[in-house]
Amino acid sequence: MDWGKQNRLSRIIKPATGKAVMLAVDHGYFMGPTTGLEQLDQAVNPLLPYADTLMLTRGALRNYIDPGVDIPITLRVSGGTSILNKEALLHEGATCSIEDAIRLNVSCVAFSILVGAEYERDTILTFSEIIDEAQAYGIPTLCVTAVGRDMVRDARYMSLASRLGAELGADIIKTYYVDGFDKVVDSCPVPVVIAGGKKIPELEALQMARNAIDAGAIGVDMGRNIFQADDPVAMIQAVRSVVHDGAAADDALGLYQSLKSGEVGAAT
Ligand code: 5RP
Repeated sequence: MDWGKQNRLSRIIKPATGKAVMLAVDHGYFMGPTTGLEQLDQAVNPLLPYADTLMLTRGALRNYIDPGVDIPITLRVSGGTSILNKEALLHEGATCSIEDAIRLNVSCVAFSILVGAEYERDTILTFSEIIDEAQAYGIPTLCVTAVGRDMVRDARYMSLASRLGAELGADIIKTYYVDGFDKVVDSCPVPVVIAGGKKIPELEALQMARNAIDAGAIGVDMGRNIFQADDPVAMIQAVRSVVHDGAAADDALGLYQSLKSGEVGAAT
């Protein structure tokens, strides 16, 4: 692998642990002002010291994030539908050129494929073009295996979608945790991270992250379960303790509660 791509990947997947806590705040590209991200800068800035990369759109990056930040950017470069589009939600195409991604000095670009949808071919072929362009400049790609409303979220589906993304040439796969997740990871030749999905109780989110890491995932690309927590700064530190420090979910919840109550100060 080209030195440049390895260097960009190592800024996201930390060499010390081989793990990554990716903070996803790209929801606006199809959900608009998602709860918790109404003022994206106010939500994100306190979390940056604890995130290994920030995943967002070019518009959010340019309008909300200070260019002086020291965090690798994972740029969402696909889109094309909104949550109002019931028929073709996530029928995505390219929404950002590789030139603009380079101009933004990103460390990775992210694109969704929708395996099993009637328009899966469009998303797969467009993602392949994105990979070709990114590859030419040594920029890693993150394949998001989006899941349509009427699709069954099981290990068989996630294994298919994840392996397909890896076979297309993606460097990292982002998928969803399901029972039997070890089968998903074992049949995927590139690193796998999990999305957090809709907000669930903190212990459940931490247990999901624990289970995913134990099944072989290298981390999370989590959004709502962090920025919609009662105390997002405490939550991202609890997630880090699971991903990077091997903490059990109960212990991570204890850390969350201690940080939330102010019993212990934030990790430096
Ligand atoms: C949508 C995405 C979002 O980045 C991701 O799902 C948001 O993270 P979370 O689900 O943890 O809020 O990939 O297709």
